[in-house]
Amino acid sequence: MRRCLELAERGRGSIGNGALVGSLLVREGKIIAEDHYSGFGNFHAERALVEKFDPTPSASGGLRGASQKIAQEDVLYVNLEPCCHEGKTPPCTNYLIEKGVKHVVFGMIDPDPRVSGKGIMQLREAGVEVIGPVVRAQCEWLNRGFISLRKKNRPWITLKMARTLSGEIASPDGSPKKITSKDQDVWVHERVRGESDAVLVGVGTVIADNPFLTIRNTIKKFVRPYRIILDAQLNTPVTSHVVTDEHTSRTILVADPKNASGPKARDLAQKGAHIFPVAMKDGQFVWSELWKMLTEPKGDFHGIASILVEGGRRTWDIFKEAGMVDEEIILIGS
Ligand SMILES: NC(=O)c1ccc[n+]([C@@H]2O[C@H](COP(=O)([O-])OP(=O)(O)OC[C@H]3O[C@@H](n4cnc5c(N)ncnc54)[C@H](OP(=O)(O)O)[C@@H]3O)[C@@H](O)[C@H]2O)c1
Repeated sequence: MRRCLELAERGRGSIGNGALVGSLLVREGKIIAEDHYSGFGNFHAERALVEKFDPTPSASGGLRGASQKIAQEDVLYVNLEPCCHEGKTPPCTNYLIEKGVKHVVFGMIDPDPRVSGKGIMQLREAGVEVIGPVVRAQCEWLNRGFISLRKKNRPWITLKMARTLSGEIASPDGSPKKITSKDQDVWVHERVRGESDAVLVGVGTVIADNPFLTIRNTIKKFVRPYRIILDAQLNTPVTSHVVTDEHTSRTILVADPKNASGPKARDLAQKGAHIFPVAMKDGQFVWSELWKMLTEPKGDFHGIASILVEGGRRTWDIFKEAGMVDEEIILIGS
């Protein structure tokens, strides 16, 4: 199951609002095939694996080619319960049954109410031996964003703040202050930004710090998280790094619909940034509208499941007061 989780991680950044899933086929204690869910609209991990292993056509469609058959004793491992509903792809349960899979080990129940235990039931009713959940806590942690979307209709939200021992988050005049050490920066880039679909800041931070909000100084390659700026009036300077570096297509400016198609919006969009109009109430974005905009796929944007809120003070306060926090990381530096 831990190998499934490693494989699942490979889908990060390309699966949009879907789940991170890896799958293995084991024969006589050895892994004989493995795959993961690799992108929005592609086959789910367990189906992708069987399609590659046994590409003969089945009633629910399949590729032609030389085939290795699934044997009676083979065990299929997957970190998420196989789906049993028609979504962007056909149900995995029917496919596994048709292909002769007789043993399944799963990591966690699918929180999607259309599945939620029914996938397991369908497999068992067809005579498949199903074991699980196993390594459940790790499976659920990996897919905390997907679970949050299904249960709370919003992404998983992590707040991250760096402060000095005496509690400062910036210089007294508001200008940026280097607080964290090199080791803390590497950890943040690899383990925090690298495991988030998006990094979010308020426009005050863009004006004060002109941050890049990218992943740097790491050996491992990561898909870049989106950079989200809450900026109702579109005050982001057109010279900011987030709209002038080579990753502007990963920048989303959330704006008041009144300003989302004006001349400044056109200037920023021309630089490659996306402008997302979100309704406002009492000077703040309406949460339900914000989550809808950020989690529902449209065009090349496939939605996000997790957000790292990096500041500044006003933005942290707004998120905290609204109870929009699942996890808080406080880095203490000198
Ligand atoms: N130490 C750290 O970890 C850290 C991290 C980041 C920043 N900082 C520091 O923090 C300071 C900036 O903080 P700040 O409080 O001035 O600004 P900020 O939090 O970066 O931005 C605040 C602005 O963002 C917009 N905003 C945020 N949430 C919103 C919502 N839900 N709806 C609508 N608009 C929303 C509002 O813009 P408008 O109302 O103006 O449109 C608000 O005034 C800088 O000095 C920076 O160096 C420190």
